[in-house]
Amino acid sequence: MDKQKLIMLPGPTNVSERVMQSMLNPIINHRGDAFRELYKDVLERTRHLFQTQGDVVVLSSSGTGGVEAAVWNLIRPGDVAVVPVFGEFSMRLAETVELAGGKAVRVASDFGKIPTLDQLKSAMDQQGRFKALLLVHNETSTGVAAPYIEEATRFARDHGAFAVIDAISSLGGYAIPVDRWGVDMCITGSQKCVAAPPGLAMLSVSKRVVDYLKSSPPKTRYFELPRYLEYGTRGETPFTPALPLYYALDEALKELLEEGLEKRVERHDRMSARIYDGLAKLGLQPVAERSVRSKTVVASYYPQGVDDSKFRKALAHDKGVVIAGGFGPFAGKVFRVGCMGQVNEGYVDATLRAIEETLPAFRN
Ligand SMILES: Cc1ncc(COP(=O)(O)O)c(C=O)c1O
Repeated sequence: MDKQKLIMLPGPTNVSERVMQSMLNPIINHRGDAFRELYKDVLERTRHLFQTQGDVVVLSSSGTGGVEAAVWNLIRPGDVAVVPVFGEFSMRLAETVELAGGKAVRVASDFGKIPTLDQLKSAMDQQGRFKALLLVHNETSTGVAAPYIEEATRFARDHGAFAVIDAISSLGGYAIPVDRWGVDMCITGSQKCVAAPPGLAMLSVSKRVVDYLKSSPPKTRYFELPRYLEYGTRGETPFTPALPLYYALDEALKELLEEGLEKRVERHDRMSARIYDGLAKLGLQPVAERSVRSKTVVASYYPQGVDDSKFRKALAHDKGVVIAGGFGPFAGKVFRVGCMGQVNEGYVDATLRAIEETLPAFRN
């Protein structure tokens, strides 16, 4: 078994001792009072995270399950969805629309960039009426974050469309007040800024979506949201929940709310600035332009000639610091540092020091 390393991945991320310990709570009847109490607490705290008075759902699945749930509940065969595509996860989102029988209108930009709000608006105008805008807020594959959730959401709704935000790698590091901004569904994962272990997806569901689902039941069993909402009213999940993860999520959300969402967001601001500055001092070039650079995933180009796999192995083995490589066209050329959840000055400085001390041996 590996000794615990400093996990500076773009998820999963470091989990506190307190949250890890919570998973040792007893296995209980998931149709009994103890679970009902736990789940009601989890739902209430999740509502705080999304800043909603509306419905939320917790799924025993990784983030991808949350995305599938959103798409399969909203998209019917033939429906048109506008999808900005600017990296791996937004590409997958467009493909998921097509798997559900929908038509994905891709508004594409190169990896490392993002379609502008004007490009997005013009694509929506061209469609006239369409079913949904599906936007990845934070492209974890490239370290680029959309700076226009609120505006894009409003514009989509003006076209009579649903607005769905994949905030899997951002919510908690960023605030997304879904009620105030009119977001119909927002999806996040347990293993990112919430700093719980991987394995749960959380979704907010607007009243408009709830009403729509009454008139058009989705063709999925495991991700059938109306069933989750109905069971949720009595503190249950339709299917057997991943109990230890629910304990962990509850504890991680308690931690988050004790710190305060605003303070956590501000800490992510400061810590990501510290990473960008530290890498700049080492002469490294970030992938994203300043105006769209992510506060939760810092992607940086390697200097010429560095072997990505050997460098990251040495970093993990010699310094105990784990970071991620690049995706798609960035594979081998880019490394990514997660700035999520528990991230603090100590973690950031240890990571920067490890990179500074390890990189020279791998430079040409
Ligand atoms: C933006 C985004 N969407 C979807 C996913 C998929 O989540 P998971 O790997 O938890 O299934 C990820 C994972 O990193 C992500 O960052």
